[in-house]
Amino acid sequence: MAAKTPRKNRPFDFTRIVVPKQTDRRFYGHGIPGVDAQKLHGKLIVVEGCDGSGRSTQIQKLTDWLESAGHATTQMGLKRSTLVSEELNLAQNGNTLSHTTMSLFYATDFADQLENVIFPGLKAGRILLADRYIYTLMARDLARGSDMGWLQNLYGMALIPDVVFYLDVSAEERVQRNFAKDFALDYWESGMDLGLSREMFDSFLKYQAMVEKEFKKLHKTYGFTIIDGNRSPDETFDELRTKTESVLAGT
Ligand SMILES: Nc1ncnc2c1ncn2[C@@H]1O[C@H](COP(=O)(O)OP(=O)(O)OP(=O)(O)O)[C@@H](O)[C@H]1O
Ligand SMILES: [Mg+2]
Repeated sequence: MAAKTPRKNRPFDFTRIVVPKQTDRRFYGHGIPGVDAQKLHGKLIVVEGCDGSGRSTQIQKLTDWLESAGHATTQMGLKRSTLVSEELNLAQNGNTLSHTTMSLFYATDFADQLENVIFPGLKAGRILLADRYIYTLMARDLARGSDMGWLQNLYGMALIPDVVFYLDVSAEERVQRNFAKDFALDYWESGMDLGLSREMFDSFLKYQAMVEKEFKKLHKTYGFTIIDGNRSPDETFDELRTKTESVLAGT
């Protein structure tokens, strides 16, 4: 048997293990035929935020903390479905699809993960950590002129999460982080398809401002829990952890 780790050497404070409390479950709209939301017992925790806001960093910290406290976790994120993620990448590289087709491509990827990752995980009582959810998809589409009613109908299939954390980080800070990570800005994250500017840095700031504006509108409709992500990873995580504990406790 493995030796017990002395309390002072453990990475997290275990005095506050929370047993997840069952809460009411609903879909935003029509849901998925044949799926009973009440049987999805686990917790669905979404981390949203603009590109480079630190979602992956925080999700990793959440995973480590939850797993070391005995919770089973599963991660999901956009463009990770086995069904269409490769094709989506090819389509993006080819840059030939219309906004609507691209939007439906993303919706297909999302629906596939809903059925094959989120639902089975929640049925088994796991904690699902979603790196982005329908809100990113909606914000990007709204910035490209999609109709809100059309999007809400499309994403009526989605399950209402237990909480949506929105990492709020200034665009200037996110540029720094993106450069530090990849030494470049991404074509899509800079909204280069929209022809806002020929200069990528300028386009990034303009496009990100448009997406942020849409996120703010979505916050009014859906009620995100806003987390100031401009702080250090550990400071940000401290708040995220406390708020996650409340979500698990159903308070
Ligand atoms: N609070 C922070 N302060 C400073 N740097 C950070 C912070 N959080 C994350 N980073 C760094 O910024 C970069 C982007 O962070 P991360 O990959 O977690 O963001 P993301 O939101 O998942 O990005 P993407 O949109 O590319 O998926 C990484 O290099 C990461 O180490
Ligand atoms: Mg990431």
